[in-house]
Amino acid sequence: MNILTVVGARPQFIKAAPVSRALRARHREVLVHTGQHYDAGMSDIFFAELGIPQPDINLGIGSGSHGQQTGRMVMAIEEVLLAERPDWTLVYGDTNSTLAGALAAVKLGVPVAHVEAGLRSFNRAMPEEHNRVLTDHCADLLFCPTATAVELLAAEGLTTGVHLVGDVMVDALRQHADLARQRSEVLARLGLRPQGYCLATVHRPYNTDVPENLRSILAALGDIHQQTGRPAVLPLHPRTRGRLEALALTPPAGVLLIDPVGYLDMLALEQAAALILTDSGGVQKEAYTFAVPCITLRPETEWVETVQAGWNVVVGADRGAIVQAATQRRWPEGPPPPLFGDGQAAGRIVAALEGAHASAG
Ligand code: UD1
Ligand code: UDP
Repeated sequence: MNILTVVGARPQFIKAAPVSRALRARHREVLVHTGQHYDAGMSDIFFAELGIPQPDINLGIGSGSHGQQTGRMVMAIEEVLLAERPDWTLVYGDTNSTLAGALAAVKLGVPVAHVEAGLRSFNRAMPEEHNRVLTDHCADLLFCPTATAVELLAAEGLTTGVHLVGDVMVDALRQHADLARQRSEVLARLGLRPQGYCLATVHRPYNTDVPENLRSILAALGDIHQQTGRPAVLPLHPRTRGRLEALALTPPAGVLLIDPVGYLDMLALEQAAALILTDSGGVQKEAYTFAVPCITLRPETEWVETVQAGWNVVVGADRGAIVQAATQRRWPEGPPPPLFGDGQAAGRIVAALEGAHASAG
């Protein structure tokens, strides 16, 4: 089989790593990087740390408005598809790179396989929600991380080609968690002790582009430090750094702003955190998998299972609500049930692609 994989943003490099490894054992993969993320700390470091082969093609699209960025990606991916004529196009998650890969492929009649299908926030103000819905409806194979995702697809009439495979992020986490513990020196470098700090990430437009929300989150992290003695470490997504600079916002005492970290340092920071506060999708699941309580800084989550299990609470950006959840909430005793699969999702994805290819040919 010839597979053309499209990635472009940080979480997609992590998701693609285990699948790419499993695919390349038996098939030919052409890895296309759209260039959506391009800083070394948002892109190169993940290829190095996760042992992902260098992209065969980097389209160098970079940042831009949604329409410009997505449109330029579609045009460039179309050219690659015409040259490569793959059996499948493989896309991940819900970014503009995902939608561009799916659109370019379906319009040329190249079958699409979508990893992390069936996720829904039901919040149409999120750019990712449109990307997910449209990509799922373009896809011939839909690889779901959870039973909830399978049900949500069925509710939209999508039942053919749907496979419950588990979450490829759990594959990646299991393959790297020990390595992170052994190799990462991030705690010592930042002067943090295990269980002695909170880890936070913020990058959603809902928080970065609404100044009150950004201010409120920083203030809440400062309050939590005051009340618990635990500082917060906040690896800053470049979008967030840009907004903080534009607003001339400085963090309160006990809030440590750092550059984005690599995957191994991130896993090390997550595993030893007392509490994680985040608006990231991936980080919510990683918190759950490491049995670290999580406060979600959004009005809703796609990963509802983590909330039902009691390990995650959806709070939004309200200062008082964040502080109350951080200081007063009682969390379950570990270990949490394995809701996101057994770390073998990549193998199931390759097997399903092979099965579909055999029945088509
Ligand atoms: C994108 C995805 C989001 C995902 C996130 C993962 C879309 C619509 N959004 O959001 O779903 O959760 O990636 O991190 O696809 N920038 C840099 N350097 C970089 C990359 C970005 O400086 O390497 C800055 C640019 O100013 C850019 C901004 O960050 O305009 C936003 O980048 P973009 O890729 O458009 O969206 P993300 O917020 O990263
Ligand atoms: N991550 C990382 N370094 C950071 C922040 C996040 O390695 O400084 C990892 C994190 O562990 C997870 C993924 O990036 O695997 C999540 O990506 P992000 O939060 O950018 O996107 P989302 O999951 O919200 O789409």
